[in-house]
Amino acid sequence: MAVQNLQSVTAELSPEELEAAARRDAEGQANFDRVIADDSRIEPKDWMPAAYRKTLLRQISQHAHSEIIGMQPEANWISRAPSLKRKAILMAKVQDEAGHGLYLYSAAETLGQSRDKMMDDLIAGKARYSSIFNYPARTWADMGAIGWLVDGAAICNQVPLCRASYGPYGRAMVRVCKEESFHQRQGFEILLELANGTPEQKQMAQDAVDRWYAPALMMFGPPDDDSPNSRQSMAWNIKRFSNDELRHRFVGMMAEQVKVLGLTLPDDQVRFNEETKKWEHGPLDWNEFKEVLAGRGPCNAQRLERRRQAHDDGAWVREAAAAYAAKQQAKQSMTTKEDAA
Ligand code: 3HC
Repeated sequence: MAVQNLQSVTAELSPEELEAAARRDAEGQANFDRVIADDSRIEPKDWMPAAYRKTLLRQISQHAHSEIIGMQPEANWISRAPSLKRKAILMAKVQDEAGHGLYLYSAAETLGQSRDKMMDDLIAGKARYSSIFNYPARTWADMGAIGWLVDGAAICNQVPLCRASYGPYGRAMVRVCKEESFHQRQGFEILLELANGTPEQKQMAQDAVDRWYAPALMMFGPPDDDSPNSRQSMAWNIKRFSNDELRHRFVGMMAEQVKVLGLTLPDDQVRFNEETKKWEHGPLDWNEFKEVLAGRGPCNAQRLERRRQAHDDGAWVREAAAAYAAKQQAKQSMTTKEDAA
């Protein structure tokens, strides 16, 4: 059934059927509440409130789209990587991102949405994906900054999602986080090598960190006061921490790691507040964030156009797969008829 609960399909039911449906809904809700209170897991065939399903579908499909669009800034550097080894590592990383997208589309499909519909929404520009992938990757050092900052922010946000209350999402996240951890280290290592290279290389690394720092902080989403979904998602154990909590935690990690790199964060207000026991950072440009979300970031048009092109280029693969499946199905039904005769 599409994305809805039984209670919304009541128009043609008899009074007895209506009563039975209402009873199933009440039992389903009670079981759902118990599972959430026990911090346990909801599985695809379990009853779940329509709003929970909708929220998960929204978040997981946006996440899947982010992984797929996120391949672009780095794929663009594969042919320009400075050595064969760097090329192989970067290619493996980009392939990992494709895999993450596929795990996540599969998790979203268990909620009743087809992958084709999700992809159509992305291509039509109706679906969101992470703001971060609308920024350009200008130099090789950007591969380092993306790995260190962007994948670092992704891990910080996604490790708590391994405990998300929806089983398929949480399980997909465990695997994704293992790979993201390798991605972050490869980014850190690229920056470390550049930071210990010539003055020009060090400057290139600093410049990349300067450009990616604020967009990476904004990946965590709007400030808590401006985050319409956080409260309910936290009550359902989908999100475990608020956007600001995770952003502050991330800044603290980066503030320590940047010292090892011998670089600096472009923010002189980063500090640990001894009173609140929290890390703090300087102001972020939330107007820029809104512009990017509205499709007016530096690379939004380019990213969507590239995705559309890739989709069109892949049409023959989809057609071939569908033709093969139809052939197999025809063979199967022929065998079944022969067996029955
Ligand atoms: N980029 C684009 N949209 C964003 C955003 C961002 N960085 N942050 C928030 N938004 C959107 C939300 O999707 C929501 O839009 P909608 O209501 O139209 O769907 C709106 O802004 C309000 O934000 P909320 O804080 O209320 O939304 P959420 O509670 O969903 O929190 C989130 C946003 C923290 C991104 C959460 O959805 C989340 O944790 N998602 C899973 C992780 C994810 O999607 N990461 C994307 C990056 S993937 C990645 O980095 C790949 C790696 O390989 C590098």
